[in-house]
Amino acid sequence: MAQVIDWPGRMQELADFVGLDQDGLELIQATREVVLAHGEELTASVYDNFLEFPESRRFFTDEHGDVNEDRLTRRKHSLMRWLRGSIDFQMDEDYPIRVLAMGIVHSHPPLHRSHLGSVPARFMIGTISYIQSAVADLLRREMDDPDLAMRAAAAWNKMLMLQLDIMLAGYVNEVPNEPVAGGPQYTGPGAE
Ligand code: HEM
Repeated sequence: MAQVIDWPGRMQELADFVGLDQDGLELIQATREVVLAHGEELTASVYDNFLEFPESRRFFTDEHGDVNEDRLTRRKHSLMRWLRGSIDFQMDEDYPIRVLAMGIVHSHPPLHRSHLGSVPARFMIGTISYIQSAVADLLRREMDDPDLAMRAAAAWNKMLMLQLDIMLAGYVNEVPNEPVAGGPQYTGPGAE
């Protein structure tokens, strides 16, 4: 029988698994200024990369194969909004639901682009990998303290993996199993 999934609990479990704690979230927040100062160029490079490959490019072209600049600009703004929101990533009740919804937008094409099918999951994985490298590179270049830059990049990597897990849950049909006694339980803000 279908079960209601405890998304915040799942996210907390994976956060514990990869070792992302409050200190890690504060490290990410400490990179706000440098990430935002270079956010536009980072998101632009993600889209340049999409346009390099026919299988990702086709999501941004018109029926003649030309890039639809309006659509591209809108998508860049969406990605920038997401990046800004990621700096304030929280292990709360809302975040995983918003990320899940974002995954579903990519896996289940709305009517106006139903002919294109899902954004292939491999490009979701590839995009997160691309962003992880771009953020690490940025922090290494722009932060004065290399040790801090390294630790902040590791925290970003972990946080982006948590998001990827939930985004891909919008793609995958798993057979859920019974909760295990002593298993993950959400204890953060909003928990009973
Ligand atoms: C994993 C990293 C990605 C993130 C964080 C991301 C982020 C977003 C966001 C925030 C939106 C707006 C969602 C909304 O309106 O509710 C969006 C929409 C969209 N993204 Fe992505 N995206 C990612 C990967 C990709 C890839 C790899 C492609 C294609 C190659 C893609 C193509 C699109 C398209 C076509 C839409 C518009 C959906 C629609 O028709 O409404 N995205 N993305």
